[in-house]
Amino acid sequence: GLPTRVRIHEVGPRDGLQNEKALVPVALKAEFIRRLAEAGLDTIEATSFVHPKWVPQLADAEELMPLIDDVAARLPVLVPNERGLDRALALGAREIAVFASATESFAKANLNRTVAGALEMFEPVVAKAEDAGVAVRGYLSMCFGDPWEGQVPISQTVSVSRRLLDMGCDEISLGDTIGVATPGHVRELLATLNEAGVTNDRLAVHFHDTYGQALANTLAALEHGVTTVDASAGGLGGCPYAKSATGNLATEDLVWMLDGLGIETGVDIGRLTATSVWMARHLGRPSPSRTVRALSQK
Ligand code: HMG
Ligand code: MG
Repeated sequence: GLPTRVRIHEVGPRDGLQNEKALVPVALKAEFIRRLAEAGLDTIEATSFVHPKWVPQLADAEELMPLIDDVAARLPVLVPNERGLDRALALGAREIAVFASATESFAKANLNRTVAGALEMFEPVVAKAEDAGVAVRGYLSMCFGDPWEGQVPISQTVSVSRRLLDMGCDEISLGDTIGVATPGHVRELLATLNEAGVTNDRLAVHFHDTYGQALANTLAALEHGVTTVDASAGGLGGCPYAKSATGNLATEDLVWMLDGLGIETGVDIGRLTATSVWMARHLGRPSPSRTVRALSQK
């Protein structure tokens, strides 16, 4: 059966804005996050403490954090290494996410490491975060397909997931970075993870909507028993280090479906849509979300 409540992990300010060509002013980012919280989102991924040359769009993390320290939401941030963790902790971050890859090609492109080398880089980060009482999410990219390697074997995804949990990550977010997954593949991966001892309460799903499958894949995951879903307001996003990655599942498309199913999220779809329309105006192009378009044309 379906869950009665779903926790939405909003990634627009991070996964969305990291992929914008134009640099978004820091005050606008802060207002975006504030508006998302006011729309009822209780987990909003705020920014990344990565190398500023790798993701210049988020190089203002130090300026952003003090502007949002009174926002009433969990505000996780991405951290690739100890340098990133120190920067995040100095600004009072209470939740972080490390980000691994199921494939060698993407580990190299995104982290300049092998898969194993990246996991080694994360180990002290996760340990130090735990000591500081900071919650750690482990992203796993390219769980289904990879632009260089094609379809990714389920065993590969399961083994890196296990490694992330074993090193102390509280939750794994299964990333379909380039949006190639379909619902049968989702069901098979989740069932295999369960067999490997990974329970649904430790899992989140992170779908990109490149092939229009994100909502179908999400429904398959919910039917399987997963209750944490990543989404990006207005469908913003992509990944600068994965060619052919487009925006994430739009939060509005997700909330429209969940509202219809009577599943609680705490999100006010009207306020959320108004926020995405406002952001799209600043970015200079319309939101790709069908729900945003439909609701804003009413
Ligand atoms: P590297 O070049 O191997 O770095 O990059 P390094 O460890 O050799 O260090 C080189 C220099 O960078 C040093 O400075 C470090 O101090 C500095 P130097 O001593 O030469 O003066 N440095 C840093 N400075 C500031 N903050 C830091 C930091 N780290 C090192 N954190 C590195 C390795 C991991 C740093 C780099 O590859 C990187 O920053 N990658 C981030 C890429 C990224 O952010 N990608 C997007 C997020 S992932 C994603 O979107 C997927 C997801 O949405 C899920 C999905 O859809 O699949 C999560
Ligand atoms: Mg992503």
